[in-house]
Amino acid sequence: MTIKTFNKNVLDRDLVSFFNNSKKPFIIRNIFNSEVNIDFLKNKFQKEKVLTLNKDSDKELLRLSTLIKEIEKGKKYRLRANTKLGNKIFNYIDTSIIKRLKGKQKNIFDYLLSYGKSSRQKTLFLSTKGCTFSKHAHVISGMIFQLSGTKTWHISKSRDDFFSIRYKSFLNPNPLYVTDKTPEEELKFTLNPGDFLYMPAYWFHYTTSNELSLSFSYFFTEKITYYLKYSPLMFIYQGLRNPYQAIRKAIEKEPEEHIFDRKDIINTCNKLKNPIKRTEAIEFFQKNDFS
Ligand SMILES: [Fe+2]
Repeated sequence: MTIKTFNKNVLDRDLVSFFNNSKKPFIIRNIFNSEVNIDFLKNKFQKEKVLTLNKDSDKELLRLSTLIKEIEKGKKYRLRANTKLGNKIFNYIDTSIIKRLKGKQKNIFDYLLSYGKSSRQKTLFLSTKGCTFSKHAHVISGMIFQLSGTKTWHISKSRDDFFSIRYKSFLNPNPLYVTDKTPEEELKFTLNPGDFLYMPAYWFHYTTSNELSLSFSYFFTEKITYYLKYSPLMFIYQGLRNPYQAIRKAIEKEPEEHIFDRKDIINTCNKLKNPIKRTEAIEFFQKNDFS
């Protein structure tokens, strides 16, 4: 089994039909030309300060020029869903595929995502060799544009069962479900510069990086009927566990301040009263850059 893959000459009719009707992940190879690479960031935004995660998964606020110097020395760093740069680079990326797929469709929660100084919909991911993430799923769907370098994705072959999810509200108020990696039940593929990936809401995934990778993710919400049809329990449970207060907290803060790091995760683990569960949780997250 492989992930559905289109080439750049695919007809819009076929694409839109697959996007709307299957609601499964798919790739379009070589759909856009990317001029955004590390030199581009260096030239355009070197003075910007960004909240990075270092090799220990601790936060470090660095000037972009410093971050790039450290990466060039071979240091391990990551920018996770960085909205500051995501919003700035958006205009330099050919994202016309978003409109081709979605049309003018905008859903109610998209207004929350775009609230504040910098929209939460437009994000930059940077990762270096060795970076990896916990297997997770979220309420928002993503359209991912691989800008530079390559990145390997591991995704579930099908939708995961609600009751199989290991941590359902561990990272609150970050509304992320986190679960065990099961390579035999996953699809693995690599995105190259110019490739596009659609990752539907609540589809479990994680990535590993073998080299410096830059990608842009455009996040959006699906129609309410999507959630009720494909993942009612995940949707309702998160709605109850992440109610109004969490949403309010989320929109008060600027998106960058939400990045959780090793300390945040260990603090949460330490709140677990059961010592076996506490040790298990620390070991679980340690395997994944504490992310
Ligand atoms: Fe994700």
